[in-house]
Amino acid sequence: MPKITYIDHSGRSYTVEAEIDQTVMETAIKHNIPGIVAECGGACSCATCHVYVDEAWVEVTGEPSEMEEDMLDFAYDVRATSRLSCQLRVKSAYDGLIVRIPERQG
Ligand code: FES
Repeated sequence: MPKITYIDHSGRSYTVEAEIDQTVMETAIKHNIPGIVAECGGACSCATCHVYVDEAWVEVTGEPSEMEEDMLDFAYDVRATSRLSCQLRVKSAYDGLIVRIPERQG
């Protein structure tokens, strides 16, 4: 199973095993990672699952869709590497993925 590391705003890191085809958001919720709210449950309509993909992983995770881009406008402190974690579906290539959680959501 691919391992994903979440690093929160204070620098605390959580490495968990993810299931293929679950999203990075669902994986975080399942493992009680603090800081990912996911109010809409993964429908790409709340922007409270915002994460920053580590620079080294941007190529692997790819570009956000147009719908995700539009929703990201509502996220707090958006950066070039911002993604909505409900739109990142885990695949084996994600093994070792690092995402950072913003100071707050929304
Ligand atoms: Fe709502 Fe990702 S969970 S946009």
